[in-house]
Amino acid sequence: MNKRLKKLQGSLAKAKVKGLLLRVNESGQSTQPNNQNVLYLSGFGGSTAVLLVTADKALIVADARYWARCKTEAKDFELVKVERGKKVSGAINQALQLAGLTAKSKVGFESHRLPHQIWEDWQKDLRATLVPTTGLVEALRQYKEPHEIEELRAACKATSKVYQEVVALMKPGMTENDVAFEIDMRLRKHGAVDNSFSSIVAAGPNSAIPHHATGNKKLKAGEPVVMDFGGVFDGGYCSDITRTVFVPGKAPTAKMKEIYNIVLAANQAARKALRPGIMYRDYDKVARDYIAERGYGQYFTHGLGHSLGLEAHDPFDYEKAPLNEGAVFTDEPGIYIDGVGGVRIEDDLVVTATGAERLTMAPYWKF
Ligand code: GLY
Ligand code: MN
Ligand code: MN
Repeated sequence: MNKRLKKLQGSLAKAKVKGLLLRVNESGQSTQPNNQNVLYLSGFGGSTAVLLVTADKALIVADARYWARCKTEAKDFELVKVERGKKVSGAINQALQLAGLTAKSKVGFESHRLPHQIWEDWQKDLRATLVPTTGLVEALRQYKEPHEIEELRAACKATSKVYQEVVALMKPGMTENDVAFEIDMRLRKHGAVDNSFSSIVAAGPNSAIPHHATGNKKLKAGEPVVMDFGGVFDGGYCSDITRTVFVPGKAPTAKMKEIYNIVLAANQAARKALRPGIMYRDYDKVARDYIAERGYGQYFTHGLGHSLGLEAHDPFDYEKAPLNEGAVFTDEPGIYIDGVGGVRIEDDLVVTATGAERLTMAPYWKF
């Protein structure tokens, strides 16, 4: 039985709606379908469909490209077919009718995901009273179930392997793009179906730019290289790792070594502080204070981490939700000094009953 669907169905009354419509549609250039809520609820991994969920019904509206997948992937959902040449809104109306809803029924839509243009069409075409909702499925995705943690563990294990393979072949003269190519190819080789974001390889002075756009800069001996990458693995779960390494052939400077050791210690202090019940702001503060106390506070210019799951930046209520058991968070402090260089070290952590477990077991740099 689909527990997630049951939980969502149980939350509809509180949201004062009789049903919820969730739409996903392939968009522009992205290779990622941005279908995480639909995938999470139904198991359907395709890129175009509309779900209708009511207290006791679950329907999936899809065109012929996806009928077979709806049947095998979204087993708890009744298929309503969009026939060739017919409007999608006609099939959604059919679903609304099958669910026993009328023009007066309040039906929610995901206001943070539905384009305004589609909302206008739905207002005109659908026999329902549309009500904006936000975060109903995202609230469920904050804490991972044991099988989700298994998927994330496997994703992080494969990603750590990629790191070890790539660091072994790095040498002066390669470009940032050469390194990114090795990362991306090896992610695929180890089971990823996509990148969770474009791989960042930042060499030398570029390492001081937290989200540098990987380019054709050549690696020089002794320079720092920040590598930040991750894959989307079968099932949709993402990894996200950063390691800072030093190009072989020359020893890194004493300054870079000092910065590296501070960032690593901040990463480890935050991991040790992570336990059920802690709020994100307090988790962040542990690493921030550690770095500030050593005089580098102004150079740690971003948050300590983010929730990770079906998206590299998974939904989480950072202000109000505690990082309870099952929360999966990155731990990624950094120090970036213009003209000197930068270091970021990022691990993916799962909150356990008593503390936190590191999923990204790739080794750190040894000087
Ligand atoms: N590069 C994305 C992140 O680490 O959050
Ligand atoms: Mn990252
Ligand atoms: Mn990250």
